[in-house]
Amino acid sequence: MKRILPLSLIAIACGAAQAGELEVLHWWTSGGEAKAAAALKASMQAKGHTWKDFAVAGGGGDAAMTVLKSRVVSGNAPAAAQIKGPSLQEWAQEGVLANLDGVAKAEKWDALLPKVVSDVMKYKGSYIAVPVNVHRVNWLWANPAAFSKAGAKVPATWDEFFVAAEALKKAGITPIAHGGQNWQDFTTFEAVALGVGGADFYKKALVQLDPASVSSPTMEKVLTTFKRVKGYTDKNSPGRDWNLATAMVIKGEAGMQIMGDWAKGEFLAAGKVPGKDFVCVAAPGTAKAYTFNVDSFAMFKLKNDANTKAQNDLAAAIMGPEFQEVFNLNKGSIPVRLGMKMDKFDDCAKLSSKDFVDDAKSGTLVPSIAHGMAVPSATEGAIKDVVSQFWNDDKMDAKAAMSKLAAAAKTK
Ligand code: BGC
Repeated sequence: MKRILPLSLIAIACGAAQAGELEVLHWWTSGGEAKAAAALKASMQAKGHTWKDFAVAGGGGDAAMTVLKSRVVSGNAPAAAQIKGPSLQEWAQEGVLANLDGVAKAEKWDALLPKVVSDVMKYKGSYIAVPVNVHRVNWLWANPAAFSKAGAKVPATWDEFFVAAEALKKAGITPIAHGGQNWQDFTTFEAVALGVGGADFYKKALVQLDPASVSSPTMEKVLTTFKRVKGYTDKNSPGRDWNLATAMVIKGEAGMQIMGDWAKGEFLAAGKVPGKDFVCVAAPGTAKAYTFNVDSFAMFKLKNDANTKAQNDLAAAIMGPEFQEVFNLNKGSIPVRLGMKMDKFDDCAKLSSKDFVDDAKSGTLVPSIAHGMAVPSATEGAIKDVVSQFWNDDKMDAKAAMSKLAAAAKTK
């Protein structure tokens, strides 16, 4: 008769005497996100470490960041936390993040990452975070059955978008599934800014916050177009979570959603087939540009050696080819590690992977503001608030919104 060893003994037998505990803060709680996060948990448990899940619900991570601040301030930081973009630098300046150069050197991260990504993962030349993936944000998700019922064509430009939206509305289908939360409002806004203004305008106005571009006729046109989109959302959109908006497209209650490719994780988790049950196209007018959003984890300085070892194992696993594949297949994103085979990925991911390279070459690869890739968190919060105020207040015109935006852009 075979004897079944208790898990703890197996861990010791596998040489995991250094087993540590990893408390990991993230906001991956929707169907597709949770499936992807489970892959990370499984790989750490396979090394004998204990995974303490610290999931804080709330798309875009605003709630998670609030909770993280209070935990760190009270001297009780988790081992690892999902932190992205310029916020990584802000946390590193506080002196609370662990240096990951040891694992980065051993695993050759410098050679395995696009420079645009590795630069963000470093503080004063040292790695302080490990990247997980590349999400493309400027996508439009559409339900082909809803479109054929409405006799409409999936739009490639903003003009076509409004034609399709009218047709969907006439057919009794909500044209655009939206969740009225400020990061979702801004996800739509930045897609409109890229589509209407182009990549150079986007960079000048929203990344460099150049005053002349923030207050320009192009910005006025962007704001007006953005507000027109609202007329095609349903009355229950305020406060709705993004994945519930995706579910409307999955069920055919809505025709389209403008959202990053974590939405694809929801379609896939619901058993839907890309190209058949749903389609992905670049958000209107943005086929020749790419808004990127890179998820990453930072590790907090810990005193316990076993837990520090567990952090290094986590960092190494995240950049490992097995994890990069399985995680990104579930998450909807593409691997951030260069040179990965894409044969198991679908056409949306293959297009994303090709466009990432092409847009990097042509200077049309731009960081997502809505997803914390571009500007300091205080500025980001201020401009997001203005955009949502404008979306929600039907009495505010584009000119008034523009002058508020100009003031918010000066927030430091
Ligand atoms: C994150 C994604 C996440 C999405 C919705 C984004 O900011 O980068 O990983 O799936 O928010 O929660």
